[in-house]
Amino acid sequence: MIKSGVLGAAALATPAVISGSHSLTAQRAAPNPNLKLSGKTAFITGGARGIGLAIAQAMARAGANIVLFDIASGQTPGVGYALATSEDLGAAQRSIEALEASCLAIQGDVRQREAIEEAMQQTVATFGTLDILVVNAGVTQVGAIEDFSDQEIRTVYEINVEGAIKTTQAAAPIMQKQKSGRMLFMSSALGRMGNELFPVYASTKWALIGFAKSAALSYGKDNITCNVIAPGLVRTKLADNPYVLGAMMPDDPAPSFDRVSESLSSGNPLGVGHLEPEDVASAAMIFVDESMSKVTGEVFDVSLGSNARNVA
Ligand SMILES: NC(=O)c1ccc[n+]([C@@H]2O[C@H](COP(=O)([O-])OP(=O)(O)OC[C@H]3O[C@@H](n4cnc5c(N)ncnc54)[C@H](O)[C@@H]3O)[C@@H](O)[C@H]2O)c1
Repeated sequence: MIKSGVLGAAALATPAVISGSHSLTAQRAAPNPNLKLSGKTAFITGGARGIGLAIAQAMARAGANIVLFDIASGQTPGVGYALATSEDLGAAQRSIEALEASCLAIQGDVRQREAIEEAMQQTVATFGTLDILVVNAGVTQVGAIEDFSDQEIRTVYEINVEGAIKTTQAAAPIMQKQKSGRMLFMSSALGRMGNELFPVYASTKWALIGFAKSAALSYGKDNITCNVIAPGLVRTKLADNPYVLGAMMPDDPAPSFDRVSESLSSGNPLGVGHLEPEDVASAAMIFVDESMSKVTGEVFDVSLGSNARNVA
């Protein structure tokens, strides 16, 4: 568990503890008005590593205050690979502060309504606003349909779907009061097609798109945009772990992410088999640009060109 004020306690503001979770308080950085997200606050679930952290870093470089909300639990029941740890969350916070941005790191689970609501309140108490919400926390499950246990199905739905809904419910009243906000939902290429290796995960990512489009309809009148990013394979620990790689390359005695990527590359027009987290962060940055204020309810594929084969 992360202890309050563990990092550079002398430089930190008043430590705060959220019920059921602990937070590292923000080190306040002086705002730079020349940066496009200066004075804005971005709340990113699943921000301790991978895509969430890359988005947080991109937004920090653009001047935003960052809130990282992550379960940081390592091995987790119902998940076949290790999630981020409290050390990952601490390192993520330090990486944001190294970019001269303010960062609040909160250890909490999107499945717990109270934890996510209190984290939102702490965000506003610390930074004054909640301008950008990145609904990114997610887990994957791999296997044939008949293989999934009740616990596995429950876990992936509770995190990827219910967690996303609860996160949105917690953020929306704050953004509605402000009459402004940008919500981004991290779906997947598998939220746009079926996949026999990831059947349950794919169904959660389809569900997320349905929810995000509904949120766009519900919150448009409050000047809140809701858009979806749907990436193909990304090099993160969600994919680059023995549980997932073993299922993707069952005949390979030593499956590796690079070999999976290589096998996919010939099918993509760009000849590239995977994305890096920074590629997805670049897409996220498009949607928080001022010029995108009239775009909502959209799904943006970051697909390495694989969609060029789809029906329009
Ligand atoms: N990696 C890929 O190939 C890929 C492709 C498309 C979409 N995605 C999606 O991108 C998002 C980020 O995944 P990633 O690839 O960066 O994986 P990742 O495992 O590196 O990061 C996910 C983060 O979410 C956190 N998390 C998990 N459950 C949580 C919970 N209940 N509460 C709070 N935090 C929780 C984890 O600790 C971790 O830090 C996920 O929604 C994933 O489904 C990933």
